[in-house]
Amino acid sequence: MTTTEEYRLLGFSDQDRDDAEAFQADRAVVDDLADQLRAALGKLGQEPQLRMPDDPRNSVQAFLDTLPDVRRFHAERGIPDDVSWATLADLGQQLTVNRRTHGEYGLETHWWMTVHWTGQIYALGRLQYLLHQVPADKPVPGTEPGEWVTGVHIPETGPLTPEAVDDSLAQAREFFPRYFPEYPVRTATLWSWLIDPYLLDNLPPESNMVRFGRRFTPYGEANDSQDSAIFFTFRTHGLERLDELPQDTSLQRLVVGRIKAGGTWQSAYGYLRL
Ligand SMILES: CC(C)(COP(=O)(O)OP(=O)(O)OC[C@H]1O[C@@H](n2cnc3c(N)ncnc32)[C@H](O)[C@@H]1OP(=O)(O)O)[C@@H](O)C(=O)NCCC(=O)NCCS
Repeated sequence: MTTTEEYRLLGFSDQDRDDAEAFQADRAVVDDLADQLRAALGKLGQEPQLRMPDDPRNSVQAFLDTLPDVRRFHAERGIPDDVSWATLADLGQQLTVNRRTHGEYGLETHWWMTVHWTGQIYALGRLQYLLHQVPADKPVPGTEPGEWVTGVHIPETGPLTPEAVDDSLAQAREFFPRYFPEYPVRTATLWSWLIDPYLLDNLPPESNMVRFGRRFTPYGEANDSQDSAIFFTFRTHGLERLDELPQDTSLQRLVVGRIKAGGTWQSAYGYLRL
């Protein structure tokens, strides 16, 4: 049973907690995911390929059921409690995003939470860091295939100020050698719409977003991902209702304006040395 305090530390709103508790979970489906999470816990290198329930509310139940397992893994590594909870609280954050996007309890991004629950990703200040190996088919400049790197992720938890980013990167430099000494990390990678060159060239150069993106050296081939720009800016999907989207900020205007002009947003690759 998840306690009220655990729900709070996991970042659940009262409404999401009530809905999670009221949900009639499918035991067999929940246990299947819970077993897979336990088996994959601590197997670092590649993102886990798990069979996910059709109904993500069953996934939430599996995350709750395996909370003691992932908490034990963090404790055995000596990972500080505040880092452990900040990492796992992305579950509540994702539920909040789901409610904004779909207006109800659910977890569209349930696959994303498997990296938290298998011990691969850590929230260090403003950013999250996913420990993984450079795949042979997607080389990163200055690294060997199989070398350990950390993928940077940006949750929607407030402004991305340069000070917060500096602080987070400083934490990452300390964290990985201390808690994962057998996986030496020298490079951070980013795959994101936030480093689409069009965004970097068209938002004000002094904005948090552009100053963040310019820290990364571009590499590789960008992929089309129109929906990323729409989803991360507006928390909705699809291009059918472009005219109804708010146009209050420079980012909102840039995202819609480019699409209306026939352009396509992309997710690009970048790296930086830690
Ligand atoms: C990345 C993020 C934290 C940047 O926020 P920030 O630090 O406030 O951004 P900036 O201060 O550089 O903002 C530049 C402009 O874009 C606007 N803006 C930034 N993020 C916005 C958002 N999510 N929605 C609407 N407008 C946004 C700002 O209001 C500002 O416009 P203005 O000058 O007209 O007011 C924020 O966009 C966010 O939370 N995004 C979702 C998470 C995400 O995209 N993660 C990456 C996934 S690959």
